[in-house]
Amino acid sequence: MKSIVVYESKYGSTKRYAKWIGDELDCRVSKIEDISTVDLLNYDNIIFGGWLHAGTIKGFKNIYKDIDKFKSKNLIVFYVGLSIMDEKIYEEVKKNNFHDVDNIKQFYLRGAFNYNNLNISDKLMMNVFKRILKKQKEDEMDENTKGMLDAYVTPVDFTDKENIKPIIKSVKELNLQ
Ligand SMILES: Cc1cc2nc3c(=O)[nH]c(=O)nc-3n(C[C@H](O)[C@H](O)[C@H](O)COP(=O)(O)O)c2cc1C
Repeated sequence: MKSIVVYESKYGSTKRYAKWIGDELDCRVSKIEDISTVDLLNYDNIIFGGWLHAGTIKGFKNIYKDIDKFKSKNLIVFYVGLSIMDEKIYEEVKKNNFHDVDNIKQFYLRGAFNYNNLNISDKLMMNVFKRILKKQKEDEMDENTKGMLDAYVTPVDFTDKENIKPIIKSVKELNLQ
């Protein structure tokens, strides 16, 4: 079976994961914007990675717009964010990105965050978000909120090649079918 990894990344962590997955599977890796749906449909296993932006998987709309055409394909989506995954976030991502789609295998990978590297519009958005987070009383904040607020001050990087193992396993199982 032919596999391809396609991705959208702004600050590099999703790209890093995409390259690691491509190396492990020994397959083509491409930015999603550089490949057409027609070209993608030449592959059996399409592994898409996008970074999380306010609960939306960036770049996934490029696939979603033609989702019916991918019905006969193995579609694997990994999304990269800063949050610690929990039921609430999982449901939010599902609601925002995967409505009416149930044939997609999903994986969440933790990325990286450096406030100083953000462009102006992302800094503005993250400042608004920070004000919202700070409204909570400190002793009522959960781990995600505390971690997020700390990351504004101290850059964090959770990218780790080990994290791709479940994705590789899943693709290898598909290849055995
Ligand atoms: C404007 C903005 C919005 C973000 N929204 C979310 C989010 O909703 N959930 C999350 O877990 N992480 C969020 N993040 C963190 C990014 O998803 C994380 O930094 C990711 O590693 C970026 O991927 P990239 O390095 O491939 O661009 C956000 C970051 C920025 C700059």
